[in-house]
Amino acid sequence: MTRIFSGVKPTGHLTLGNYLGAVRRWADVDQHRAEALFCIVDLHALTVDHDPGRVRRLSRQAATLLLASGLDPELCTVFVQSHVDEHARLSYLLECVATDGEMRRMIQYKEKAALERKRGGSVRLSLLTYPVLMAADILAYGTDEVPVGDDQTQHVELTRDLAVRFNQRYGHTFVVPRATRPEVAARVMNLQEPTSKMGKSDDVGPGVVYLLDEPDTVRKKIMRAVTDSGQDVAYDPEERPGVSNLLEILAACEGSDPAALSEAYTSYGALKKDTADAVVELLRPVQDRHKQLCADPSSVEGVLREGARRARAMARPTVDSAYEAIGLLAPSDG
Ligand code: TYM
Repeated sequence: MTRIFSGVKPTGHLTLGNYLGAVRRWADVDQHRAEALFCIVDLHALTVDHDPGRVRRLSRQAATLLLASGLDPELCTVFVQSHVDEHARLSYLLECVATDGEMRRMIQYKEKAALERKRGGSVRLSLLTYPVLMAADILAYGTDEVPVGDDQTQHVELTRDLAVRFNQRYGHTFVVPRATRPEVAARVMNLQEPTSKMGKSDDVGPGVVYLLDEPDTVRKKIMRAVTDSGQDVAYDPEERPGVSNLLEILAACEGSDPAALSEAYTSYGALKKDTADAVVELLRPVQDRHKQLCADPSSVEGVLREGARRARAMARPTVDSAYEAIGLLAPSDG
């Protein structure tokens, strides 16, 4: 059976970008067609300046939101990365396969390191090695497919390279995974700055729709979205990034095509109104279910405990065989 792995990093409140680019597909499609694991990758949240209490709160909130979005623990495994030691164990081995130059070429590293330096902060070493930990997340589970938004494609490519290199050097150990992306909304853009990605941690609020935003807030943010200087509604992400972003969001909500949708509109105002309505309706059931789950935190904890138990059992044999293949002496039982 196909094995799927993906994750979300608790560095901020989950956004419409996370939902349309990744989480919705995990719930609607992936968990039904494969053996799927979805992870709150909390170790990754420590790669930039962080507040310990906030990371803990956001991890719990992310887990609750994944379940509220429809992930069903009867169908898939939902767990927290730091509850399964195998990720960190494997990450070190992969650091011995990856190169320094490869790490420094990662776009997200370059962008985030530049931002940290601009803020006058220092860059954590873990920010540089982050993609290796991500590769470990994926490879530990014999993953075939990694459903992600556009911004993670380069990291999944690196994961493939590391898997192939390890297998060539030390014998076949890892499945070589591939990224899958949604047909529309693989890169939802910031509503105020439509040439930048809508990101949960590094953006100003007005351009980012959060999954837990009140309907009024969602409407305001979308109605105030920056549009382009042209008059007509056309789908052209290069020349008309603002309008094209709204068309992508609406198309993703409706399951239609952004270029075809553009023909139905003659004004930006009407497009914004329909997009706002569609997003409010899309988020409503997620928010309702989130409220219910918050009233019963022990059920979420139970899901995470059972998820970690299952994940450990799946990852252990692969990680043990990587330890052996690379030349480490197995501990004796006696
Ligand atoms: P993260 O937490 O930034 O994002 C989680 C998922 O949401 C997608 N996404 C978007 N899709 C469309 N438009 C956007 N504006 C947008 N913003 C985010 C991301 O592509 C991602 O699929 N490094 C990963 C977490 C990770 C991971 C893994 C993912 C760690 N280990 C192993 C897959 C497999 C990250 O920071 O995602």
